[in-house]
Amino acid sequence: MHLARRGNEPTESVYDLFQKQISERAPYLNADTNSIRLFDGSGDGLLETYLDQLGEHWLLSTHDGLVDESLRRALSQFDKSVYWKKLDQHEKESPSLLCGDPVEEDFIGRENGLNYKLSFDSGYSQGLFLDQRENRARVMEMVEPGQKVLNTFAYTGAFSVAAASAGATTTTLDLSQPYLNWAKENMELNSIDPTEHYFCKGDTFHWLGRFAKSGKQFDGVILDPPTFSRDSKGKVFRVEKDYHRLVKLACELLTPGGWILACTNCRKLPAWEFEEQLIKGAGEGASLEALPMPPEYTEAEYLKSYLVRL
Ligand SMILES: C[S@@+](CC[C@H](N)C(=O)[O-])C[C@H]1O[C@@H](n2cnc3c(N)ncnc32)[C@H](O)[C@@H]1O
Repeated sequence: MHLARRGNEPTESVYDLFQKQISERAPYLNADTNSIRLFDGSGDGLLETYLDQLGEHWLLSTHDGLVDESLRRALSQFDKSVYWKKLDQHEKESPSLLCGDPVEEDFIGRENGLNYKLSFDSGYSQGLFLDQRENRARVMEMVEPGQKVLNTFAYTGAFSVAAASAGATTTTLDLSQPYLNWAKENMELNSIDPTEHYFCKGDTFHWLGRFAKSGKQFDGVILDPPTFSRDSKGKVFRVEKDYHRLVKLACELLTPGGWILACTNCRKLPAWEFEEQLIKGAGEGASLEALPMPPEYTEAEYLKSYLVRL
């Protein structure tokens, strides 16, 4: 673990540093939202050390294979169940308990007034990508009752829940049936009836083509693909080269005045190159509105998000 010294400030103890940054996050925690980033790596003074609040519990993420003892000691002074996850591991293991009481069951996290099922026992990801909080809020603002929203690469359907809570009829699309089931549970946790919404299992490229052929249209389409993916025919998709293909297909499904929320967390792809891909896919006349990351992400603007309108 490395303390990142900022300017000429004296190096603080790890506990003091956590305490200070966590108390600065207090304005973002309220009755509607209890799941946010509490500490953001070098942006907050510790290299490659990230702390998230998920519901009432904490998750520490580091690149190191072992947690530095000073980190563990500092975190054990807070009265919390703290789990730890090693980032970028091939095994994609669930986090392990670092200190505090074990969390035996799935639990609920709140964000923008909505409930999401979270888990420390479901593999590498816990059910909600916290860096998308403001984008989900924006979707809730934009959607009008009765509109149709397509959420591709949907994972546990958090964007679908946000859109449905604002009155949209949603279509949630993912390769994984367990994630689609999780998305339905998330709807139920918010008193949204999943039988009034659509769920499609399979490859996004395949479904986008199928929707276009059958003349289906959506008022909003959400694109948030993994950096690398393989379609049903084995064709590889790489965000850096191929995002424009995804945008072109999505444009064919848009109602007049519709929007695409296009996101990528690919750190290698600079914002200007991502913008070029969006324009290549949507056409020269398209307008792009850049959306910022949540304010507590102080380290890097790695998540690039744009509203694309034709
Ligand atoms: C990074 S997560 C998306 C996060 C999600 N947009 C959110 O905000 O919660 C990637 C998801 O894409 C799904 N996926 C990967 N390749 C896919 C493909 N070709 N078609 C459909 N889903 C895919 C994975 O199963 C996973 O759930």
